Amino acid sequence: METIRTIAWMKEQARAARMEHRIVGLVPTMGALHTGHMALVERCSKECAPMYVSIFLNPTQFGANEDLAKYPSTLESDIEKLAAARVDGLFLPDAVEIYPRGFSTYVDVEGLSNRLEGKSRPGHFRGVATVVLKLLEIVKPHYAYFGRKDAQQVRVIQQMVRDLNLDSEIVVCPIVREADGLAMSSRNAYLDAKERKAAGVLYRSLQSAAAETMRGEHSAVKIIAAIQAVLSGEPMAQVDYAEIVDAETFEPVTRIGRTSYALLAVRIGKTRLIDNLLIWAEDGDLRPDL
Ligand code: PAJ
Repeated sequence: METIRTIAWMKEQARAARMEHRIVGLVPTMGALHTGHMALVERCSKECAPMYVSIFLNPTQFGANEDLAKYPSTLESDIEKLAAARVDGLFLPDAVEIYPRGFSTYVDVEGLSNRLEGKSRPGHFRGVATVVLKLLEIVKPHYAYFGRKDAQQVRVIQQMVRDLNLDSEIVVCPIVREADGLAMSSRNAYLDAKERKAAGVLYRSLQSAAAETMRGEHSAVKIIAAIQAVLSGEPMAQVDYAEIVDAETFEPVTRIGRTSYALLAVRIGKTRLIDNLLIWAEDGDLRPDL
């Protein structure tokens, strides 16, 4: 596996592959790779050759009081995992390569970016959209792979791709979970043993929401109450938000009529975790997808 550090060389490699009519795939990450990331890589490897993975800890998507400085970094083991998965190229630019002196253009996906995660983390999606646009422009992949764990991020990126007529297709992959249901995340490394145990409450609360929808409950208020009831049973959990939103608009709904998400952001100690339940709606029937 080649490590590619410059934009010029990354562009050249991907351009050469496209010229040979090969199917270029990209998996953007911030490193500290876990099984959730590797599931995207595996999906990509089935559909694309060559396959590129980017590791770039993107400073513009972190707020001033967030965890940029202490974000986990495990580059050596990341490289081993990617090489074992037969990734063709690791795009590993430094911050100055992506944001040189005088950089001044940012992408704002309006509306969608200001709710939920965007409200709790002002500027977050501006940073995400900007770096993802740059990555998609540098590599110009046929397919780019993202996880549904970050459901609002996926929606913001899809909107940007549509609005800016980008040629890449966004492929959304399911959430990969630990044995107790906790969604895998680089940030899980921050949890101590007690917090790690407490963090299982996010999944359990979404399971109770899933059970409600299976019983035919369409009232968002009642489903949220079921989620809150489970969360409030865990003293270490501090809820940032628990909402049910339309899967297209990310606007809150009172009754689930169309495919929706139950979205959670919960603090366990100092660690902020997110998770979600996708609720498919078809002809009035609800089908939860955890
Ligand atoms: P990062 O948090 O490293 O995640 C990279 C990709 O892995 C994202 O698409 C994310 O949704 C996916 N992912 C993370 N945990 C997952 C899980 N448990 N199951 C399935 N997929 C999972 O998200 C980012 O980086 C950044 O915002 C990025 C898109 C790279 C832009 O900087």
